[in-house]
Amino acid sequence: MGTGIAIVASRYLTSSKIHVFDPFVSSIDSSKKFVESWGHKEVKKGRMTEHDLNDFLSRIHHHVLETANDGSSYVDGIEELFSEVDFAIEAVPEVFELKEKLLKEFEKNCKFDSIFATNTSSISITRIASASIRPEKVIGMHFMNPVPVMPLVEIIKGLSTSENTLKCTMDLCKAFNKTPATSIDRPGFIANRLLMPYINEAIFALQEGVSTRDDIDKIMKLGTNMPMGPLELADFIGLDTCLSIMRVLHTEFGDSKYRPAPLLVQMVTAKKLGRKTNEGFYLY
Ligand code: CAA
Repeated sequence: MGTGIAIVASRYLTSSKIHVFDPFVSSIDSSKKFVESWGHKEVKKGRMTEHDLNDFLSRIHHHVLETANDGSSYVDGIEELFSEVDFAIEAVPEVFELKEKLLKEFEKNCKFDSIFATNTSSISITRIASASIRPEKVIGMHFMNPVPVMPLVEIIKGLSTSENTLKCTMDLCKAFNKTPATSIDRPGFIANRLLMPYINEAIFALQEGVSTRDDIDKIMKLGTNMPMGPLELADFIGLDTCLSIMRVLHTEFGDSKYRPAPLLVQMVTAKKLGRKTNEGFYLY
């Protein structure tokens, strides 16, 4: 998703620099390749000129984060890089400790008024902001996958997020040519509070033999005009992500209606995570 966000940022913020950070060389390499192939497709589709493509690519700077002896992350010149950043968006895995560490490292060098947005799909914004020395500058900015295509960004204020941070984030979304919609900081916000129980119920229906995989997807796709059926969509999102969101809903609401389907738990245990592992409910 980080790559998708960088694509959208470079496409629409034509006088900005976009920095992409990741600790894995392979992720940085695949991010670069994806950005390039996306840009070339835009040229082929006649939505970008060759000249625009070069500018689009030159605005995005990829950096591999190294780990220092004390466990902190760095790249050469990190102080200067972070001190130039007006708006940071994190899209690291859904592990609170990882987001906390990243936020603290960013705040060591960032400008006093820079905003830190998290693309979390289910962790409380107030909880992430509690790791910050400037919680009023922390906000949820939940993009949908695939980021370059999906028009919505869900915006979530934490308990301490300031009105000014909210306004800047809404303005940035519009500058990205996206439509923002807001939710308060409750488990799953709106998108995943509604979407994940729907996917989970489809998995219950499959495990109970109510219908086949193909027919469950066909019924919802053709019967309710969805671009993908729920099982295909679960594979697309990642079954580990679906499970972790169901667990957040289940734990935080304390309501059994959010219990994850045993088949979902088993699929994750078997590392059949969907498209990312080439096997989930479907083979890829
Ligand atoms: N990155 C960038 N662009 C992509 C893409 C990707 N990974 N995948 C597809 N696209 C683009 C294609 O280039 C194409 O663009 P143009 O129309 O400009 O040519 C367009 O999307 C349509 O692609 P395709 O024709 O190849 O395929 P499709 O018509 O079947 O659409 C889809 C693919 C857009 C993914 C569509 O199936 C869809 O909308 N699926 C549902 C996606 C969805 O619900 N996302 C939300 C998931 S929930 C979430 O993200 C939040 C969370 O926290 C879990």
